Amino acid sequence: MRIPVALTFDGLPEVAVARDLLRRWWGLELGLADGKGGGYERTSHATCESVRGIAGAACASALTDVATTFAKTRERGAIVKLCHAGLTIVAAPVYGVAGLLGVVYATGGRGTDPAAMERGLIATIGCTPDEAKTLAEAAPVLPEADHPRARDLVAAAAAAVERALPAEIAPTTFSHPFNEIVGDAPAVRDVVKLLTKVVKSEATVLVHGESGTGKELIARAIHYHGPRAKKPFIVQNCSAFNDNLLESALFGHVRGAFTGAVKDQPGLFQVADGGTFFLDEIGDMSAALQVKLLRVLQEGTFMPVGGTKPVRVDVRIIAASHKDLANMVAHKQFREDLFYRVNVLKLTVPPLRERVSDIPRLAQHFINKHWRATTPAPRLSQSALARLVAYPWPGNIRELENEMERMLVLAGDATELTGSMVSTRVAGMVAAPAKSLRDEIATSEASAITQALGRHLGDRDGAASDLGISRAYLEARCAALGLGSGG
Ligand SMILES: Nc1ncnc2c1ncn2[C@@H]1O[C@H](COP(=O)(O)OP(=O)(O)O)[C@@H](O)[C@H]1O
Ligand SMILES: [Mg+2]
Repeated sequence: MRIPVALTFDGLPEVAVARDLLRRWWGLELGLADGKGGGYERTSHATCESVRGIAGAACASALTDVATTFAKTRERGAIVKLCHAGLTIVAAPVYGVAGLLGVVYATGGRGTDPAAMERGLIATIGCTPDEAKTLAEAAPVLPEADHPRARDLVAAAAAAVERALPAEIAPTTFSHPFNEIVGDAPAVRDVVKLLTKVVKSEATVLVHGESGTGKELIARAIHYHGPRAKKPFIVQNCSAFNDNLLESALFGHVRGAFTGAVKDQPGLFQVADGGTFFLDEIGDMSAALQVKLLRVLQEGTFMPVGGTKPVRVDVRIIAASHKDLANMVAHKQFREDLFYRVNVLKLTVPPLRERVSDIPRLAQHFINKHWRATTPAPRLSQSALARLVAYPWPGNIRELENEMERMLVLAGDATELTGSMVSTRVAGMVAAPAKSLRDEIATSEASAITQALGRHLGDRDGAASDLGISRAYLEARCAALGLGSGG
């Protein structure tokens, strides 16, 4: 299995520079393996080939180990490891949204002591001490003091590969007639499955979900895929107006009902006759209006403001709320009888942070939706997608849509939407989540580290292994958390 960037690897300027310097400074060879440590794009170093006696040999098991570690820890930056034959491997991870996609590695060098490599060779390939000595002496040397520079070069190449990756968007296997509803996450599939039944019925529907999750989109889908499609679809947000104005808007008023009511005005319920009425934020409706709405649901009639004759309408009602209506009923903030009338069929739309797997698909959907030019829309890069996926999206799909629109404007003629085009608000959250949460995490992290160091009398290797992290990472965390340098 090849990693998707294979073809671009050699063409990347950072890769070319790293390769050149690694060769010139230490005689090392740069390669790329897939997320399992196989599928090499560059074969190994001449040393590896003479050790293994195979052209194109690479330190397969060592690379697999490295890949497994990266896949598990998701640590960034390059590490140095010894392969089975005692050669150094400098390796850095390439991550995609779904996990580790590849490993960029430099091989072929040994440490300053040839004896270590000789021992490795005798143990693993069973050569004679003389053969081992010859091979070890011929191998180029990567001195320990140079590890940081070699690691930086490999890490820079890996970062370039990661940035250049086109975002991978898995094709969906989920097909349904609601083309406007994009998503493949289990929760979305559940909603859509229910929709196919809901559209055939006339039942009142309650859509529950945070703002921007797609409640109105679903309400529209119910209307336009159902038998009332040719009749009006009317939307009114119940938190938009004060009570009097909302009552007039919904139910209309008769001439003289109040100062300024110079003639009869039909309300939105009359306009919606035969069609569907989407009542958004129904939880914000006053107690008085809740009574009037209940009557519409029970008898199909209502009284215009100041009117004396009830008006009859045939309207399907879809209500939405971001509040938990059952909870409001329990606290006497919403009429129980109305709740049961409205809650006949309930659809719950999950927030975007609970369907992260759909972010790539949705991002691409909005690129297509908002790209107006006749030229092909810019590609979404892996680096941009990585930022989009890491953000918690408090504003849900609406916020993602705005972000994609903004990125398209920024992109101008560019053929790619890069990570740097992601707004600082979205990209910034990746490094710094909500303040209180960050503080919370920092506090418990610091206490776990101090306790581990205490148990090990300040020995960082011991503490790191207790905590299941590398010593380097422990040190970085200590520095970041201001835990001093003792031990
Ligand atoms: N599953 C989805 N697929 C495609 N677009 C969506 C989806 N969910 C929401 N949107 C889009 O996101 C925006 C906000 O959705 P909306 O229905 O207004 O949310 P809500 O009513 O819950 O506040 C709209 O432009 C809508 O078309
Ligand atoms: Mg809405």
